[in-house]
Amino acid sequence: MNDLKNTINRVLSDEADVRDATAPFQADFPYDRDEEAQVTRREFCNFLGFTSAALFLGAGGFAAKAAIDARKSESFVAAPIDGAGELAPNSSLNFTYPAEEDSAILVRASDGTYHAYGQKCTHLSCPVYYSRDHQRLECPCHEGAFDVASGNVLYGPPPRALDAIEIEVRGGQVFAVSRKASTDNHAS
Ligand code: FES
Repeated sequence: MNDLKNTINRVLSDEADVRDATAPFQADFPYDRDEEAQVTRREFCNFLGFTSAALFLGAGGFAAKAAIDARKSESFVAAPIDGAGELAPNSSLNFTYPAEEDSAILVRASDGTYHAYGQKCTHLSCPVYYSRDHQRLECPCHEGAFDVASGNVLYGPPPRALDAIEIEVRGGQVFAVSRKASTDNHAS
């Protein structure tokens, strides 16, 4: 507390020194320190205003992009998932769909059903993995977790469900047939 008081007193006394030192030159070089303080405050407020506007626009842009991506009606080509037929219950494998760079995870639940999702966590895009012990999808980065059957968030910071990949079993072969970006938790 005393440190703060001393600092305030030092700043006030420095200010008085500056005013004393510049007083003799005021006639030749008029210099208004009060006005300078006003400008500085105004500049600071402008800076805060611009920064807030930039953040607001940035967040709006991300939300708009997510909404557009979700509405985009892409046509997908069914693709077989290698190794899916031999996948044991309560285990998973990684694949890509629809493009090579679109990482995905296929889970065969304990009851034998297949579920597939985009592998990127909807929080900050860390890859999720299947926890056999907990029988759920987990994100190692900030301890988020997703339900295997729905892809919905169980807990943690992820704001929405995992992207859903539709699966079809045709003649014993498992196919990925479409992928949908999530904008919220899927209907349960
Ligand atoms: S990136 Fe998955 S919980 Fe943060």
